[in-house]
Amino acid sequence: MARAGDTVGDTLSTYSGHILAIETSCDDTCVAVVTADGEILSNVISSQGVHDRFGGVVPEIASRQHLTLLPKVLDEALRLAAITLDDVGLVAATRGPGLVAALLVGFSAGKAMAAARELPFAAVDHLHGHLAASFLRPSEFNPPFLALIASGGHTLLADVRDHGPELRLLGQTLDDAAGEAFDKGARLLGLGYPGGAAMERLAADGDPEAFAFPTAERMSGLDFSFAGLKTALLYKVRELGEEEALRRRADLAAAYQRAIVESLLLRVKRALRATGATRLAVGGGVAANGPLREALGSLGVELDIPPRALCTDNAAMIASAARFTPALCFPQYLSLDVYATGEPRT
Ligand code: KG4
Ligand code: ZN
Repeated sequence: MARAGDTVGDTLSTYSGHILAIETSCDDTCVAVVTADGEILSNVISSQGVHDRFGGVVPEIASRQHLTLLPKVLDEALRLAAITLDDVGLVAATRGPGLVAALLVGFSAGKAMAAARELPFAAVDHLHGHLAASFLRPSEFNPPFLALIASGGHTLLADVRDHGPELRLLGQTLDDAAGEAFDKGARLLGLGYPGGAAMERLAADGDPEAFAFPTAERMSGLDFSFAGLKTALLYKVRELGEEEALRRRADLAAAYQRAIVESLLLRVKRALRATGATRLAVGGGVAANGPLREALGSLGVELDIPPRALCTDNAAMIASAARFTPALCFPQYLSLDVYATGEPRT
């Protein structure tokens, strides 16, 4: 067990017990219990479902919802894992990037729980979390590998050489994230928020070849761009007119989804060629998309795409990342603050 004053390193032998992790960076209230060697004992996710009518997440509402839901989600995670707080050796929470008002709820609760028991605390980066979903048992996939992370807030390619939080970026989106493109496209087609899964369902009845939407293929390099795609859908809907656009909604969704999948696939292929990597891990909410999973499966590389529930936001991935994030001993973490974008400011 770690003693106050020690800095717990990223070796697991310095504390005993399970990892209790909290994730509240956006609109999902998540708590998980994971063992020190990466076995998930519980992974509870409460999607708020109150933002749909606003067409996106309202930070203050998300924050208040987290406050209401977190105690229940925490109790449920402990109950399902069949443990009490006495069995927890490390508390972890997402520090950023995300919505500050939302992050604050889970991060403060995590620090408070750790402090009350003088436990070590790990402040986890959300993107490291998405990556670390691949490190979980039973199918742990370990570095080195090329990683594609595609979520509602980020889309990037990274050269992953170890389990730590440092990301060696190879490329990233210059404008919208892939999930954001799904959400904005879904909104144009009259689907709810978040739109990715709804778009996938609608697209299943459509013809992906019905329209040719741009994939920014002439843009060289490993960066992504999705803003033009969203505009192309807007113009196509206008050109077709309201009635025809409604009649061909499934075709529009299928062709739009195809453009996102091809755009991601094109950069992944380029990155595999450029780095000579033969192993690929994919994470983030968009990695739940069936056609994308299928397309990546045909690349002929050693591939890891976690189960869908570990691709979209969850706390098991945060616990997994915590295993490889230097944890702080009580009371060093009390002054840490959350961050909305980019790097943490200490
Ligand atoms: O990783 P995530 O849960 O949250 C962020 O960190 O942003 O990703 C959420 C994003 C949303 O934009 C959502 O529309 C998208 O992932 N998404 C999907 C699917 N499920 C979730 N996109 C396409 N197909 C899906 N099945
Ligand atoms: Zn996420």
